[in-house]
Amino acid sequence: MSDLGMKMDLPRPEMFDFHGVTMVHYFTDSWDKVQNFQARPDDILIATYPKAGTTWGSLILDLLYFGKTSPERQTSIPIYDRVPFLEIYIPSVKSGIDQAESLPTTPRIIKTHFPVQFVPKSFWEQNCKMVYVARNAKDNMVSYFHFDRMNMVQPDPGDWNSYFHRFMEGKLVFGSWYDHVNNWWKKKQTYSNIHYMFYEDMIEDTGREIDKLCSFLGLSPSAEEKNQITGGVQFDNMKKNKMANYSTIPVMDFKISPFMRKGKVGDWKNHFTVAQNEEFEEDYKKKMKEDMLQFRSEI
Ligand code: PPS
Repeated sequence: MSDLGMKMDLPRPEMFDFHGVTMVHYFTDSWDKVQNFQARPDDILIATYPKAGTTWGSLILDLLYFGKTSPERQTSIPIYDRVPFLEIYIPSVKSGIDQAESLPTTPRIIKTHFPVQFVPKSFWEQNCKMVYVARNAKDNMVSYFHFDRMNMVQPDPGDWNSYFHRFMEGKLVFGSWYDHVNNWWKKKQTYSNIHYMFYEDMIEDTGREIDKLCSFLGLSPSAEEKNQITGGVQFDNMKKNKMANYSTIPVMDFKISPFMRKGKVGDWKNHFTVAQNEEFEEDYKKKMKEDMLQFRSEI
């Protein structure tokens, strides 16, 4: 178990440029160890830009692999300990790398928010399976804004309008959303062990997306097991689930905004002004040139 649940008083970090990507020291301090991480062929990496559906995907994976064999995990171990966050390094807390190295499970399911070029080389050498979850930019931005308001180990988001512009400039932690989703997408063309999922598809039909994920992973859960998983990972159930809703982490202030906030497609409409939407669309066209990668910001 990590010590992430311990009370702590941490300063909000400053952002800086790290190998061309905006980062904070909490995710770069263990860089050398992370880069030297020894992946195993059966490790599974869940990769996302922050707030794209990481926890949702992590819980689905954990349930698919261990829901039947170790049901006690579901009620005793928070999701952030079952699926460690590879690059996190917070003083006096067990680092993500230490947690990943001491995971007793097979497979080990490991989370990262790294842009594709930061993924440690052993994951590629071992031909590990990777699940990438992407979410439309507008909702992703809104979710990230509220997360930065409530999470004391993230930089202060400032006001909405400045945040909106920083998102478009790629000046948020883990860098540009546009580069992140595009570069993972491009990698998939040459590395076949990436399964690229969309948050909006998961909202539209969770069961269908779990089926696709299972065929990628080579799993065939029974119909009953699949129904249980599909039900257990619905937003309202995850919001109530103390082992999945991050309520055990004190650096997050749920009075400001809960981790399981809305879980919807289209909440951006409650945040974007008409002028912001026009500015955003104009800029989006210039940055998103990859025809095959299409997002839905409403369903
Ligand atoms: S993190 O901190 O990067 O790991 O956050 P992440 O888990 O990627 O994203 C959190 C957002 O995902 C929403 N969420 C869900 N939506 C629908 N259904 C389910 N089951 C679900 N679980 C998590 C969560 O509410 C955050 O989105 P917003 O829009 O802020 O509600």
